[in-house]
Amino acid sequence: MTAADHLVIAVDGPSAAGKGTLARRLAGHYRLAFLDSGMLYRAVGLLLIRQGIDPTNETAAAEAAGRFRPSLLQEAGLRDEATGEMASRVAAIPAVRQALLHWQREFADDPPGGARGAVIDGRDIGTVVCPNATAKIFVTASQQARAQRRVKELQERGEGAIYARVLQDMIARDARDQSRATSPLRAAPDALVIDTSGLSADQVFDRAKAFIDLRRRA
Ligand code: CDP
Repeated sequence: MTAADHLVIAVDGPSAAGKGTLARRLAGHYRLAFLDSGMLYRAVGLLLIRQGIDPTNETAAAEAAGRFRPSLLQEAGLRDEATGEMASRVAAIPAVRQALLHWQREFADDPPGGARGAVIDGRDIGTVVCPNATAKIFVTASQQARAQRRVKELQERGEGAIYARVLQDMIARDARDQSRATSPLRAAPDALVIDTSGLSADQVFDRAKAFIDLRRRA
């Protein structure tokens, strides 16, 4: 495989905007390895919950991030709402982000299973983790549309969810993601921005694919 064949696709955006659905589909289509980088932050959050550590304790959070290993991504409880809340808090700590950076870059540079590249979804993949990605896509949607999707997702998993509460949590999480000093959530200047509020999953995929194919030829 030559360097030119190596394909890295960065999919960033706020929660429940449709990044995961798009990123997984792109990975299948282009036969790339897929990494949901939020799971790394969730793994650190889970370590803190288990040890009863307060997320404002930056030293302990950084120490937990230093103990991150990919095997933690198999742990039960990673997708719980409480873990997501903790992940959002520890993600604001620069030393935590730093500790998780090389795992993400390694995944992009040397994807598992001999894949010829990777799709990584997150908040800062196009801006910080893989600034040289082949194609960057920023997926967004209105907070109302995202809160509705999250409620549906939680209900499908059998977890009760109240729309007003989910919306409130989403607003707080967006504020933290956008205002943190290190790697705030924002679209890279060279990213294709897709607002998925009124689009079907197929329409989002088609737009992303057309953009990626153009970037690959560039
Ligand atoms: O549940 P949700 O979709 O909001 O988040 P997630 O993608 O599972 O990630 C959990 C948390 O980690 C998010 O709330 C972000 O604050 C943080 N995160 C981040 O800061 N940078 C990333 N590349 C991925 C996630």
